[in-house]
Amino acid sequence: MRHTSAIVRSVAELRAQVAAWRGANQRIALVPTMGALHEGHLSLVRLGRERADRVVTSLFVNPTQFAPNEDFDAYPRNEAGDAALLGAEGCDLIFAPSVEAMYAPGHATTVTVAGVSEPMDGAARPHHFAGVATVVTKLLIQCLPDVAIFGEKDFQQLQVIRRLTLDLDLPVEILGAPIRRDADGLALSSRNAYLTAAERPIAGRLNVILAEAAAALRGGAAVAQVEAQGMAAVKAAGFQSVDYFDVRDPDTLAALPRGPLTGPARVFVAARLGRTRLIDNMAA
Ligand code: PAJ
Repeated sequence: MRHTSAIVRSVAELRAQVAAWRGANQRIALVPTMGALHEGHLSLVRLGRERADRVVTSLFVNPTQFAPNEDFDAYPRNEAGDAALLGAEGCDLIFAPSVEAMYAPGHATTVTVAGVSEPMDGAARPHHFAGVATVVTKLLIQCLPDVAIFGEKDFQQLQVIRRLTLDLDLPVEILGAPIRRDADGLALSSRNAYLTAAERPIAGRLNVILAEAAAALRGGAAVAQVEAQGMAAVKAAGFQSVDYFDVRDPDTLAALPRGPLTGPARVFVAARLGRTRLIDNMAA
């Protein structure tokens, strides 16, 4: 245990602390999260400690990125447990605003990002990326960090955030961090807590199928065939439905020509298992 991280709940307190650090010429990293922290989140905090003098972690389950039929109410919340983990990692400050502190009464401004936010999760979860883009823009402006760190686990989200940062001239470096996985390769996720004992081994197949798809692409298989086989393999593994199994350009997230790869590509999947929706991705 290094120390306990201080917790602030208002933008004014956040800004006062960050201003004091800036006055002392210190670099600041921001790690936005929705809490229910696991090793994946903590790896971002560690990266923040390497890249900056001070690390701020936000804990905010953002209602605007959940659709009415989604799991906002059920989303796991454990601030005391999160604070203990962050203290042990040497996180300097926790920003944990209430919904009312983040969204003032009458708030009416939304950030939407065209292009990268449209396929895949953008199609499966309408309004999701507008909610993400809006809250991340707010967090970046509230904190004004030198660097903000996001996981490649949510690769499309990372590209949406890179785009908005560029387009809005936000003076912050966006850093992507590698996906942290369980022993069987399942990408760590707060939502893995929803999985039953029977579902857990099925969930572990997802990354194996992605790795097979990536290997097939590197071996010269056609994109169309790899997508169709991946979709079938995920269903055969026991998932109820597959939102997408796509091979795309890693930067623009545009669809690729249907034949063998001619340049860099990434494979993306989203599938439903019981009450859990899982996403994962891998470079080809
Ligand atoms: P959340 O799902 O809590 O994730 C917070 C950050 O942790 C994201 O950048 C996510 O990509 C990263 N992360 C999650 N699991 C990871 C893993 N297994 N390996 C590496 N990084 C991982 O993503 C969000 O919250 C929200 O959309 C947010 C950006 C905070 C906006 O509300």
